[in-house]
Amino acid sequence: MSRWVTVASVADCRAGEMHCVKVEKLRVLIANTEGQFYAVDELCSHEDATLCQGALQGLRIKCPLHGSRFDLLTGQPLEDPATEPLRTYPVRVEQEQIQIRLED
Ligand code: FES
Repeated sequence: MSRWVTVASVADCRAGEMHCVKVEKLRVLIANTEGQFYAVDELCSHEDATLCQGALQGLRIKCPLHGSRFDLLTGQPLEDPATEPLRTYPVRVEQEQIQIRLED
């Protein structure tokens, strides 16, 4: 079963910016880039670095600790040292609220 959960308002995450939120027990990074919102896990899959302190580069996000970049669409790392993907979440905007879909 899945459900949509509001995580932020559109005003919290302007074009070209990232916004990190706690949603229930999850830490999620919202990125506003290339005209859309994307949502992935905030913590790098390699070690415990917060990707919110990294760099948003188009549809990629670069980890601040060891520099692996991740594809925001798939969560896949593009180079070492990270080898595991980030979890990605479907995103929609309803009445200026950013929502992500969580699976129960
Ligand atoms: S902690 Fe992100 S690449 Fe190492």
